[in-house]
Amino acid sequence: MKLQNATALVTGANRGIGRALVQALLDAGVQKVYATARDRNSLEALTVLDLARVIPLQVDITDRNLVSQLSEQAPDVNLLINNAGVLSFGNILETTVETIHQQFDVNFYGTLNMARAFVPVLERNGGGAIVNLLTLVALASMPGLAAYNASKAAAWSMTQSLRASVADKNIAVYGIFPGAVDTDMLAGVDMAKTSPADIAMAVLQGIATDREDIFPDPMSTQLYAAWKQDHKAVEKQFATM
Ligand SMILES: NC(=O)c1ccc[n+]([C@@H]2O[C@H](COP(=O)([O-])OP(=O)(O)OC[C@H]3O[C@@H](n4cnc5c(N)ncnc54)[C@H](OP(=O)(O)O)[C@@H]3O)[C@@H](O)[C@H]2O)c1
Repeated sequence: MKLQNATALVTGANRGIGRALVQALLDAGVQKVYATARDRNSLEALTVLDLARVIPLQVDITDRNLVSQLSEQAPDVNLLINNAGVLSFGNILETTVETIHQQFDVNFYGTLNMARAFVPVLERNGGGAIVNLLTLVALASMPGLAAYNASKAAAWSMTQSLRASVADKNIAVYGIFPGAVDTDMLAGVDMAKTSPADIAMAVLQGIATDREDIFPDPMSTQLYAAWKQDHKAVEKQFATM
């Protein structure tokens, strides 16, 4: 899609990759960005970037009523970016069931809530695109992030189903599979990380060039190539991390 024609909506826009996506969308010349967050006050710094084009709205993506209200507050969206997500550390035997539910509530059901609410909006606007922020560890599990991996792998599967289900509605669906990114999510984890600004730029390039699966950084590009060659080798490598 042509970004200059886009009216975008970004979830989790107050910080991290979401905030960088709003900035990159403005730089790309979009018509308008609905920047959404659980706490509308946390969007103040972002709104002043461009008072005419950044519209702050509040939503918790796990609340279907709020998501439904959001779809009425933003009726002109044609580019939905499902960025909001949560990550918990812990292995599959010890992570509490409550934590596993919470990871799925946000990363899987929250993303699904948004997609279901906004497909009719995009359809009414003549089509557009839905972008789901997944992760490299959706492809192969990193055992120390057991609940996160599982929720994102489920979100990847949902992304594929969604793509097929909206194919006749002129709606493209993109999956984004970043490696480690330098945001609050991985604060305290000592490893090479890509900046959120570079991720945002790669995401928009991927959309502009219509690549369904977007690997937006060196780590994800290299590991995706290795995974295509020998997915068991990547699984074994991640198991040692
Ligand atoms: N950082 C990485 O290394 C990395 C790698 C691969 C993929 N990703 C994915 O990229 C996306 C953005 O991650 P990030 O690194 O920018 O994380 P982040 O800095 O931790 O930001 C997460 C964002 O999600 C929002 N959020 C959480 N739960 C929400 C809910 N129920 N409703 C609405 N918003 C909610 C947060 O809002 P609050 O401020 O209110 O908490 C925050 O804006 C996530 O989907 C993540 O899984 C990140």
